Amino acid sequence: MTTDSETVSYYNSEAADAFIEGSATIPPDPLVGYCAETLQQFSKISDVLCVDLGCGFGRQLLDIANKFGANATVVGFEQSPYLLSKADELMHHGRVQLTDGRWIYVNGFTPGEELSDWDNIQLIHGDVLDLESHISSNSVDFINSNCTHLHLGAEDLSDAMNEVYRVLKPEGIMLLRMKTPIGNQTSRTRADGRTEYYYSSEYWQSILESVGFEVIKVQAGDNLDVEYTKTSQFMAIVVRKISL
Ligand SMILES: C[S@@+](CC[C@H](N)C(=O)[O-])C[C@H]1O[C@@H](n2cnc3c(N)ncnc32)[C@H](O)[C@@H]1O
Repeated sequence: MTTDSETVSYYNSEAADAFIEGSATIPPDPLVGYCAETLQQFSKISDVLCVDLGCGFGRQLLDIANKFGANATVVGFEQSPYLLSKADELMHHGRVQLTDGRWIYVNGFTPGEELSDWDNIQLIHGDVLDLESHISSNSVDFINSNCTHLHLGAEDLSDAMNEVYRVLKPEGIMLLRMKTPIGNQTSRTRADGRTEYYYSSEYWQSILESVGFEVIKVQAGDNLDVEYTKTSQFMAIVVRKISL
């Protein structure tokens, strides 16, 4: 199936400027640093490959490059050519310009001084259900997915997680941020046309474990989770691919 066409169209249009403006204010995610430290504990790595699935306009690519350091290659993987063009702008200029002319800066990053540190960031256009065309097996150390897989229906989740499992190296780590349902509503189409699906933390954990991951951290309902609507709230799961 993959992401529905209305959601895809939203992210690939100037309407996504509202999403860019809203998400640029989100502070860097402390769990990115936690994952960088955890990875160091379990593997002796020098050349690290990090992939941000559904990177949007690239706001987290800066933080990932920062936390994983100069030895890391960071790949932003995204289905929307419009958002990828904004991510490219961000990597080169440290800010993006909205259609109405306003400049947007990413929370936690001052434009200018760090630009040379972002030479190790690459951008790939693709679908998270088809990593095979772009990323080889057992090649990735860290995967970030921040509210990307929430656009997939239940029938796609196992395939999507199997793909993540395939591309991660043994001991590789994924940080997955999603939304859990508040009450009984398990999906919602927003006024802007995007459809989101809400799965419980237990449901996610059962899928991840059945694929072969070890769950090493679950974070829900604490002060890192911001409740945006009455139907869902954020949660985070960190998993590791168990060595064979
Ligand atoms: C809620 S946004 C989050 C963006 C980014 N991770 C962030 O936190 O700023 C969801 C992102 O996932 C992308 N996306 C949705 N479905 C996708 C798919 N099937 N393959 C690749 N990217 C997808 C969207 O285009 C959008 O950029």
